[in-house]
Amino acid sequence: MTFLNFRKSKVKNPLIRLFYWISPFLLLIVSISFAAEPDLSKPRVPSAQLKEIQAKKNPFPATKENIEKGKALYQGNGTCFTCHGKEGRGDGLAAPGLDPSPRNFTNTAFHAMRTDGELFWVIRHGIPGTAMMPMVGSVITEEEAWLVLLYERSLGK
Ligand code: HEC
Repeated sequence: MTFLNFRKSKVKNPLIRLFYWISPFLLLIVSISFAAEPDLSKPRVPSAQLKEIQAKKNPFPATKENIEKGKALYQGNGTCFTCHGKEGRGDGLAAPGLDPSPRNFTNTAFHAMRTDGELFWVIRHGIPGTAMMPMVGSVITEEEAWLVLLYERSLGK
């Protein structure tokens, strides 16, 4: 292990020695800051079906009552809060270990770049290669997914 040998080596310059010691921590900080910004521009749904998925509309109106129902599911049985955070800021208990990190629903740029259909598809099918799992059928129904989505949308206003 050349890297470890470096640490034990007889380099005398204290600044260089210090650099060898802190380099793993620098690497860690760099990787954490990258993990904090999942690329927004890339759609998270299969490109072959993009148009069809994007066109799907939420069958429920964004009434106060429906948003409250969505919030209760989000913070309850839906378990969304464990990753996305109680207030939707992407800072849930499980978030620090995840790369890409959970989406922050208070980010208005995010909402502007996704249609309801796309977000519903993600809640239904998950995003392969990430911690975002298919939630419909496991913890919530399709109808409940649309209600949770109304709550998430309300956070980006
Ligand atoms: C185990 C952690 C975890 C849980 C639980 C979870 N998510 Fe996610 N979610 C993620 C991660 C990580 C991402 C970001 C993936 C990416 O950037 O590709 C994400 C992304 C999303 C997105 C954005 C997709 C996009 O197009 O960028 C939506 C919407 C979403 N989640 C909704 C939900 C809902 C609704 C629930 C609860 C029913 C939920 N999530 C539960 C981890 C989780």
